[in-house]
Amino acid sequence: MSKQATIEIDGKKYEFPLITGTENEVAIDIATLRSATGGVITLDSGFKNTGSCESAITFLDGEKGILRYRGYSIEELAKKVDFLEVTYLLIFGELPTKAQNDKFHDDIKAQSTVDEDIKKILEAFPKTAHPMGIISSLTSALTAFNPSSVNVNSEEDMYKAIVKILGKMPVLVAWTMRKKQGLPLDYGDDSLGYVENILKMMFAKPNCKYVQNKILVDALDKLLILHADHEQNCSTSTVRIVGSAHAGLFASISAGISALWGPLHGGANQAVLEMLQAIEADGGDTKKYMSKAKDKNDPFRLMGFGHRVYKNFDPRAKIIKKAADEVLEALGIDDPILAIAKGLEKEALEDPYFVERKLYPNVDFYSGVIYRAMNIPQEMFTVMFAIGRLPGWIAQWREMRLRKEPIGRPRQLYIGETLRPYIDVDNR
Ligand code: CMC
Repeated sequence: MSKQATIEIDGKKYEFPLITGTENEVAIDIATLRSATGGVITLDSGFKNTGSCESAITFLDGEKGILRYRGYSIEELAKKVDFLEVTYLLIFGELPTKAQNDKFHDDIKAQSTVDEDIKKILEAFPKTAHPMGIISSLTSALTAFNPSSVNVNSEEDMYKAIVKILGKMPVLVAWTMRKKQGLPLDYGDDSLGYVENILKMMFAKPNCKYVQNKILVDALDKLLILHADHEQNCSTSTVRIVGSAHAGLFASISAGISALWGPLHGGANQAVLEMLQAIEADGGDTKKYMSKAKDKNDPFRLMGFGHRVYKNFDPRAKIIKKAADEVLEALGIDDPILAIAKGLEKEALEDPYFVERKLYPNVDFYSGVIYRAMNIPQEMFTVMFAIGRLPGWIAQWREMRLRKEPIGRPRQLYIGETLRPYIDVDNR
């Protein structure tokens, strides 16, 4: 392939270099487009064709349904390592040795408390507040309690900020859920694994000993691994762009949490379950909802279906579907919601509307069924996604700062009024 791309504007040709990634993906480097052409820009609403950065963290091929973290396939990682090892891998680039992993965990545990005054902020939220809004606010508030800015030229400083957020966010999550349920707020138990501790912090009752259920620990571990990174999705791009203004790690993550909340992104897992429950309450009429999803005059979409990048099966959905079967069977749960989900999937995969548009179940389609079996309240589903995505956000923020990327600042094509004379208020 030629190493140049040529763009012709008004008969004049401009050459731009082609850059090839390690998986032979090709990009046109248009960094000089505007200066060379005297002001021409590219327009790509929703960034459907625009790369915002070079990154060595996650590779995904949406046509082939491939997802890899740092070169390791998601299928292998989900089977062979735990969430903390994946966290280390994503952030620092290599799977940890036993000693590195132990130290990493110890350092996180040392940071797994938050200032008691955070409870006052939590108290002030109304009972109706959605947990994602609370978590985003509390994560941002962490900046106030840890005001010293991170020197990104110091590996040690970066590391300290990273273990802080990994230690503190699960506490904020557990407290948010417990406050809504009227349970006392407490800290975890540092003799436990990272994921075990999350479960204990969320579910321990004040009057009885919390007993870990290995099925639930393994299921949550797997779900968190599958959510841990997904290259330049909406929330991750948000984290990178906020961080590119040199806002701190906690502020950048808080912005990412807000982006994730949206139902077209992480909020879809809650929306999927609400949709499945609505179908169940409506007598299980999946055909009716399929018609609604295809009707262009109806705003309803089949939640948990479709993906900007995957035009084939989302590899995460395949693993989660199998896990949903296994978890429900192991727990002895017969959930009609799972049957509705499977029926809907089958119909969609055979329906020309979905086939032509290459719409497949995504990561959010089956995850809610597992969270429900774990007794996690529906409003907390997207929060669980956020715990999973935290290592990805951190890794992407760190990479962006280490590569000294410039501030993110897209261009626009102005389509408003041209210069016009001012009209006095009496004459408007
Ligand atoms: N139900 C019905 N029609 C759909 C759906 C759906 N879930 N998704 C896409 N379409 C149609 C859409 O109407 C359009 O049709 P047409 O070409 O006739 O106008 C076509 O498929 C292409 O859709 P699009 O909206 O242009 O695609 P996009 O890449 O901009 O959006 C998406 C991707 C994920 C936002 C979208 O598929 C969607 O809204 N899905 C439901 C929400 C959801 O499950 N989100 C979770 C995504 S995975 C988790 C994450 O990483 O965020």
